[in-house]
Order: sequence, then C-alpha cells, then structure tokens
Amino acid sequence: MIVVFLGPPGAGKGTQAKLLSQRLGFLHLSTGDILREAVKKQTPLGIKAKEYMDRGELVPDNLIIALIEEYLPKEGGVILDGFPRTIAQAEALENMLSAKSKKVSKVLLFDSPDEVIIDRLSGRRVCSNCGAVYHIKYNPPKKEGVCDLCGGSLVQREDDKEEVIKNRLEVYKRQTQPLIDFYKKKGIIYRLDATKSVEELFAEVEGIIKDGG
Ligand code: AP5
Repeated sequence: MIVVFLGPPGAGKGTQAKLLSQRLGFLHLSTGDILREAVKKQTPLGIKAKEYMDRGELVPDNLIIALIEEYLPKEGGVILDGFPRTIAQAEALENMLSAKSKKVSKVLLFDSPDEVIIDRLSGRRVCSNCGAVYHIKYNPPKKEGVCDLCGGSLVQREDDKEEVIKNRLEVYKRQTQPLIDFYKKKGIIYRLDATKSVEELFAEVEGIIKDGG
C-alpha cells in the first residue's frame, strides 16, 4: 500500500508518519529527512539541495525524482512524506508505479491554518544527533535543550526561522496545493483537521489507513 502525506510545512506529517511506522510497520520515506542527511554528510546532492532548503524553496524536480527512484522499495507499505510536492513529481510517481503495476492508494491531506503552522514550526526543535522531533510547548524534552532518546543537543532547523517559514508557506500554496485537485479527481484524497492533538489525529489516520475503501 502506498500512502501519500500531503499538507503544509509543520502540519504534523512527519510526526504521524513516524507513529504509523512504529505502530503499523510502514516504511516512512521522508524526502526532507533524506535531504537533511545528505546535507549533513555534504554529499553532491546535499551540497546542491542546501541552497534551496535554506531559502525554503523546493529542490529541483529532477533531483527529487531520482532520489525517490532510488529509495522506493519494491514491496510493503510505504508512507511518502513530503513527496510529491509538484504536479511534475506526481506524474513521475505515477509513471514509476504503473511500470510496476502499482498506484498510490490514498492521499491524506493535513489541513491547518497558517497561525497553527507558524506556532508549530517556530517552536519545533530537533536533535542534532538522532533527528528526534520536539516542540517547546506541545512535546517538550524532559531536560531543556537535550534529547530524551540520545542526549544530543536540540537545535532549530535553519528553515524554521520566521522569514523562511513565510516563504515555505507561499511555496506550498503556489507549487504543492495544485496536487489537491490532482488527487481529488482520482477520488483518493482524505482531508484531516491537523489542528487536533497528536493522538486524536493518529486515531483518524489509522482509521483511514485500515479502512479497505
Ligand atoms: P520537509 O522536511 O518535507 O518539510 P515540510 O514539508 O515543510 O514539513 P516539516 O518537516 O516542516 O513538517 P511536518 O508536517 O513533518 O511537521 P512535524 O511533524 O515535524 O522539507 C524540507 C525542505 O526539503 C523543503 O522546504 C524543500 O526545500 C526540500 N524538499 C523536501 N521534499 C521535497 C520535494 N518533494 N520536492 C522538492 N523539495 C523538497 O511537526 C511540526 C512541529 O509541530 C513539531 O515540533 C511537532 O512536535 C509539532 N506537532 C506535530 N503534530 C502536532 C499536533 N497534532 N499538535 C501539536 N503539535 C504538533
């Protein structure tokens, strides 16, 4: 089963994808996480991607499509978190899957007003060592600035600074929102109210995923 998580930055896609992966065994494929790892390791992809990511712009389609071709597994349940983000990426995904007689089963749209997004992104902290995600109000670590899981230091993502957040929201509206209609026409989109708590939202996500329809 291939499930796409769509929605504005900071709506909680990564948080829900991690839970689904832990509790239902889905593979969590996050293009943002793969790119951040490449930036950290200063690979050729990371060096190219960094300049776009720091500005809150999308990394060019050809780089992202090649990355998904490399990472998409042959079998098993997959959550695509943060991909596709443009019509060109969605079409490339369709072609990739139809070559294997597969298709996207469901698209979950995490819907949230801008105020909630800004509050979530500006309070997000991530572990510089293991990548665990916290929020200073909604999911604080036991000890301020320290990761509960590995003791690494918590930092703010470069693209969670205020000016970049505004640009990411604009980029989302301009380049990614058109995918809502793209998937609506296929009748596979499910809208979620992402302002709910993590567990409330998870119950809904799980319900949609387990529902055969
Ligand atoms: P990416 O990493 O994909 O960023 P994003 O889509 O902007 O999503 P985020 O990771 O910011 O947010 P999220 O929805 O996962 O929220 P989270 O669960 O962390 O992409 C980064 C960059 O990489 C892009 O800008 C682009 O440059 C590049 N890129 C990636 N994919 C690309 C692609 N396909 N094409 C081109 N370029 C690409 O939650 C946010 C915060 O809220 C956390 O602190 C969390 O603890 C908290 N929280 C979560 N849920 C709740 C809740 N229900 N209640 C209260 N707090 C909550």
